[in-house]
Amino acid sequence: MKPKILVTRKISDSAEEKLKIKFDVKLNTNDKPIPTNELIKMGNEFDGFITSAFDNIGEDFFKNLNGKLKIIAHVGVGYDNISIKSAKIKKIKVTNTPNVLNEAVAETTILLILAASRRAGEAYNLVKSDNWKNHKPDITKFMLGNSVTGKTLGIIGMGRIGRMVAKCAKAFDMKIIYYNRNKLSYALEDGAKYYPDLNSMLPECDFVSIHTPATPGTKHILNSSTISLLHKHAVVINTSRGSTVDDEALIDALENKKIYAAGLDVFNNEPNIDQRYLKLDNCFVLPHVGSATHETRLAMSMMAVDNIKCFFSKKPLISEVV
Ligand code: 8YV
Repeated sequence: MKPKILVTRKISDSAEEKLKIKFDVKLNTNDKPIPTNELIKMGNEFDGFITSAFDNIGEDFFKNLNGKLKIIAHVGVGYDNISIKSAKIKKIKVTNTPNVLNEAVAETTILLILAASRRAGEAYNLVKSDNWKNHKPDITKFMLGNSVTGKTLGIIGMGRIGRMVAKCAKAFDMKIIYYNRNKLSYALEDGAKYYPDLNSMLPECDFVSIHTPATPGTKHILNSSTISLLHKHAVVINTSRGSTVDDEALIDALENKKIYAAGLDVFNNEPNIDQRYLKLDNCFVLPHVGSATHETRLAMSMMAVDNIKCFFSKKPLISEVV
């Protein structure tokens, strides 16, 4: 009998087809979220899950399992929606999709850096609303933003994605500084300056970009006290997880011009985000599209399928979390 695999949300067509060759696959054809109570039931009917960031695979999910489910192959590098502690206890393997999305997330980060500092949101809205013609072309005022070239970019979390962002930012001659739990090797640092203490890095940043995983330790890493260390001209960028930022503090800083701007792809309580963000001209927002390219989503889908294949053919997993 072929192992039974549930794919909780739509993944790339060719990855679904590849999975069907060796497994008895249940696809989520209408791509509607599966409620958590149903997911728990399905955990006792399937040998493996391919999950997405929209599934809540917390402690409650694991509590009720009967031993049938053996592997969760998550489509995403971040797996904060899965209780890793519980998976360990239940001896269920969890895999993620690292590396294949580094470039896409770095591209999104650069997009946000440019959009936030060059006021792309305001400029775009002006043209789209046909209000451009109502503005005087005053070259000393009209839509002026801040330059990016040559500025200092502080990276919080210098992992694979952080380092890819650093590499791309160097095309704009940006000076790279970083805060990380550990100092990187000389080769991985690639000229970036290490700050063992976030508070001493923040006053040096023209831009600060978050690339840490969402953990209790990184919750609200940007809060009222850390944000108060930023320059008035600083720009905050987030493509990691919403939980790394205290919304109250960031919104207050943006509303009261304590910082220049923000570029955000991730939020607390997505997609029902704090409505105050929508009113802020100095906040450029995206709907969590960090890894959303055809190429990347295909690679992520394939990686999850390949992890499932490795597991059931007793080969080493490609990207094991636990
Ligand atoms: C995706 C992500 O939106 O990889 C991650 O951690 O947040 C994004 O790439 C998501 O994982 C899709 O399931």
